[in-house]
Amino acid sequence: MQNKDKRYIDEKELEFQKRIVKRIKEINDTEYNRTKKKRLCYIVTYGCQLNNADSEVLNGILEEMGYENTEDKNEAVLIMFNTCCVRENAELKLYGNIGALKALKKKRPDLIIAVCGCMMQQKHAVETIKQKYRHVDLIFGTHNIYMFPQLLEKVLNKRKTLISILDTEGTIADNMPVVRKEKHKAWITIMYGCNNFCSYCIVPYVRGRERSRRPEDIISEIKAFAVDSYKEVTLLGQNVNSYGKDFDVPYDFADLLYEINKIDGIERIRFMTSHPKDISDKLIYAMRDCEKICEHLHLPFQAGSDRILKAMNRKYTKEEYLKKIDKIRLEMPDISLTTDIIVGFPGETKEDFEETLDIVRKVRFDQAYTFIFSKRKGTPAYKMEDDTTEKEKHEFFDELIEVQNEISKEINDTYLGKTVEVLVDGVSKTNPDRMTGRTRTGKIVNFEGEGIQTGDLVNVKITEIFSWSLNGELV
Ligand code: SAH
Ligand code: SF4
Ligand code: F3S
Repeated sequence: MQNKDKRYIDEKELEFQKRIVKRIKEINDTEYNRTKKKRLCYIVTYGCQLNNADSEVLNGILEEMGYENTEDKNEAVLIMFNTCCVRENAELKLYGNIGALKALKKKRPDLIIAVCGCMMQQKHAVETIKQKYRHVDLIFGTHNIYMFPQLLEKVLNKRKTLISILDTEGTIADNMPVVRKEKHKAWITIMYGCNNFCSYCIVPYVRGRERSRRPEDIISEIKAFAVDSYKEVTLLGQNVNSYGKDFDVPYDFADLLYEINKIDGIERIRFMTSHPKDISDKLIYAMRDCEKICEHLHLPFQAGSDRILKAMNRKYTKEEYLKKIDKIRLEMPDISLTTDIIVGFPGETKEDFEETLDIVRKVRFDQAYTFIFSKRKGTPAYKMEDDTTEKEKHEFFDELIEVQNEISKEINDTYLGKTVEVLVDGVSKTNPDRMTGRTRTGKIVNFEGEGIQTGDLVNVKITEIFSWSLNGELV
């Protein structure tokens, strides 16, 4: 199958980058032989799973260049920030962290500091770094990650700040090396970009238009995961429900799910994120019928008031959202539902907010990720008149969290005494005597399990309930 727009990166270009990777590896090997010190890199990733997936690619390239990861920036020869700009606090965190590196760079001028990712697709952010954070060596964006070897080589040779941001948004770079942190669960990007332009959101401006990867590439990648004993895959995209709309033959997300469901060895399939307007009956039936698709759906509704939904350009009403939920629950009564909610959108009143609470109470989500509206330069909502006070916004936010926490706890309570299947993630960070893992519905379960290993699928009887996790015993 071919994409209509043939936006895949030319093989020759990728070969060119690979040759540079080899050259840098030779330099690093020589340095290692001379100093007997490992070439260490420190990578910080902000933002969503898609950014994490990009960092796994960057890590893959770095590993092929002979770098190893470190958790200690003081011993790194390369420090890299993969940035997010979805809300202001993500940006502030970055500025704080690169500011704090000034002293280290002064002490070790050879240290290379690179900044990449979504935030760098905004001209004003690049300008700020250029002017205020002159110790940064390399800046690049989301559309030219595949050029990282070439950019790094230039910096290594010239030792001059290099900025490379592409506006072209049409690139899909497949077959890049990837280092995955986990060996039993894999996250795989199936499409890039977003066409929805929700009025508050910066993502379409920094990630470009929707581009779906070819199904055969995705399938063969997942088959390789299965051979490597991976048990779970999470398919990623800003709006996976519109997967395939850019193909010249009819092929959609449900078709892809049916194919992945057939892959032996893969036991669990997850995906995110879904846009309510694009959840089709076909997709709901695929979820119901494919036994490997987990009983969990993340379906952001953002706001309950039709007036606010319209101003947000979400393209559905409260009633339409609730109808979709009814249909989903009719076909899959045990499904766990999670959502994203924004409070304090410009002009949101108490009455508008009550509509949000009404959805929360009616749907009874397992969990909600709640955000206070953050003004993003370049988006339509940036210029919208806003007479809702900060105090009101915080009051809405606190009330929402209180209502949701109670519901989350009540849903968790229903697990008491039940036996659930858990995919083991490893030893619990908070209690090293226990193992931790997740149910198909996404709940964290901790339990004592001698001889149990990461990646095992085990049955656990739930004995104790907390707000954010469950305790249980192996059965
Ligand atoms: N593509 C996904 C989510 C992308 S961003 C989707 O459409 O669901 C993740 C979440 O961040 C969004 O769902 C939204 O709730 C929140 N968000 C995005 N822009 C925001 C802004 N300007 N202020 C506050 N929250 C925002
Ligand atoms: Fe942003 Fe809306 Fe696209 Fe999600 S669907 S990434 S919220 S524009
Ligand atoms: Fe942030 Fe970019 Fe993801 S803006 S939320 S890292 S797509």
